[in-house]
Amino acid sequence: MLKIAPSILAADFARLGEEVEDIRRGGADFVHVDVMDGCFVPNISVGIPVVASLRKATDMFLDVHLMIDRPVRYVERFCRAGADLVNLHAEADSLENNLEALRIIRANGKKCGVTLKPATPAEALSPYLELVDLVLIMTVEPGFGGQKFMDDMMDKVRAVRRMLDPVNPGCDVEVDGGVDPQTAPICKAAGANVLVAGSAVFGKADRAAAIEAIRNS
Ligand code: DX5
Ligand code: ZN
Repeated sequence: MLKIAPSILAADFARLGEEVEDIRRGGADFVHVDVMDGCFVPNISVGIPVVASLRKATDMFLDVHLMIDRPVRYVERFCRAGADLVNLHAEADSLENNLEALRIIRANGKKCGVTLKPATPAEALSPYLELVDLVLIMTVEPGFGGQKFMDDMMDKVRAVRRMLDPVNPGCDVEVDGGVDPQTAPICKAAGANVLVAGSAVFGKADRAAAIEAIRNS
């Protein structure tokens, strides 16, 4: 099933509750929360208190994308704050520590995911394939919204879908970065079923129309 996950990075943070209600009414499936620490990526965004506030404000599925170093240190706190899915980058720590982070997320009753930066090959997912509910393939360098979609990532999306099908067919494949009504069909054709969109949703006045335009593209 296709899911649309607007990224609040492009929302008005002073009115976050209303912004999330707007996309809920507009038919969004997930709220995508971009967490940046200024170390793993050259930008700082939001953290645990914002996830906790969102949890009080909405019953929508909170898809938390951690762009932080050594996420094993913080995943339990994001789970307790009310994330529904906690997603970490394969590049953010050793395999051993990342596997421990995934174990903690699952022990807290939450879904878990692993993300790959553009330069990281699909093979890096091999140790995680059977353990995750979602794989995220970045279609921009993580750190900022509003960047140009990298269509050369579609081979990786196809490869990941092929790797998952025999061992974890229910696993979602998400793409993030530069997704809009023009690039969404390319993602769907490659096998992505969760589309993150920041500027293409929150940058538009009519969020319902923006979500529908991506869904029906
Ligand atoms: C980038 C973030 C994205 C970003 C997407 O590091 O992970 O979720 O908000 O923004 P757009 O859709 O504007 O490229
Ligand atoms: Zn993201």
